[in-house]
Amino acid sequence: MMNIPMINLKAQYRKTKKDIMKNLTEILSEQRLILGKYCRLLEESISAYVGVPEAISCANGTDALILSLMALGIKEGDEVITTPYTFFATASSIALVGGRPVFVDVKEKDLNIDPELISRAITKKTKAIIIVHLFGRLCDMDEILKISKAHNIPVVEDMAQALGSGNANGKAGSFGDIAALSFYPTKNLGGIGEGGMVLTKRHDLGKKVRKLRVHGMGDTTYHHEMIGMNSRLDEIKAAALVAKFPFLEEWNRKRIDNAIFYNTNLKDLPLILPEIPDDGSHIFHHYVVRTEKRDGLQSFLKEKGIQTGIYYPIPLHLQECFRYLGYRDGSFPISERAAKESLAIPVYPELKKTEKDYIVRMIRGYFKEHGL
Ligand SMILES: Cc1ncc(COP(=O)(O)O)c(C=O)c1O
Repeated sequence: MMNIPMINLKAQYRKTKKDIMKNLTEILSEQRLILGKYCRLLEESISAYVGVPEAISCANGTDALILSLMALGIKEGDEVITTPYTFFATASSIALVGGRPVFVDVKEKDLNIDPELISRAITKKTKAIIIVHLFGRLCDMDEILKISKAHNIPVVEDMAQALGSGNANGKAGSFGDIAALSFYPTKNLGGIGEGGMVLTKRHDLGKKVRKLRVHGMGDTTYHHEMIGMNSRLDEIKAAALVAKFPFLEEWNRKRIDNAIFYNTNLKDLPLILPEIPDDGSHIFHHYVVRTEKRDGLQSFLKEKGIQTGIYYPIPLHLQECFRYLGYRDGSFPISERAAKESLAIPVYPELKKTEKDYIVRMIRGYFKEHGL
């Protein structure tokens, strides 16, 4: 029996260890620990890669969302439209700045937010839209930007799972007014701890975020122009990310290749497989299949040594902490069904052919055993 984890960070470390250690040794001997050369290098690399002029590193992806909303001036009573089928931070960030999350359902096709439903949810109080490129799949940016323009409502891209995803019009993070990225260790570009970044093509927002991440301080130390946070990326974390960044494209390509392999070898099974667009607009942070037999399949694979993940078991409108918003079971049927049916299968770049073959054989074995 094989043992296959959801992600193999040790394998990734073996590949990047030499460069990481070199950078860390330099930082520790120089003792330039906060907002130094490596933060700058990382910000420059990612701003050039995504194609936006402003990239501001911060403590984590959740803070990147909060800083984005603060820069947009979201405050008590403002409504922010978003999807309930995402990681918690997408919506908690809205509530944490005093806003009210307004959920709209996702599309069956790719489980990303449905632009048509965004239009219908707009009120006078709507002050922003947070879209999420879920699992690494770019949202319908043409439609979303049309709505944003027509109503003059800014778009925040939650690109925590989508660094490198894009199409002919640009990369995730370059479409909206502002974007939030996460370097959580399991992300496509994962750090050696927490980390995040705000990206924006708007200099006004970039300038604000740079202040907001250091207590709202401007150019003069201890002079506070606004009430900000302490949300900086440590140099040692930035340095590890600088060492890993050159591999991002290769890793994303391998994720896509793994997804193609699975789709080819699972296509005749009673599973809903993810669509693989040929324009690079899905970089498979997660490879997620759907089946009503999800829980049975997950237990079976666990017995066979294959770790899988459920992203996400409870849509946000049904979370206890969001009960005050007044949603109920049935409010967002597509998200609710996806939460019951989705199963993420290991898709990390270092997966070996023998491991992928084994995963496919075991999934096929499950359906065979159940006469499906
Ligand atoms: C969609 C999404 N948004 C936001 C976040 C928050 O990022 P972080 O964990 O770095 O705070 C994550 C990652 O965990 C995420 O997947």
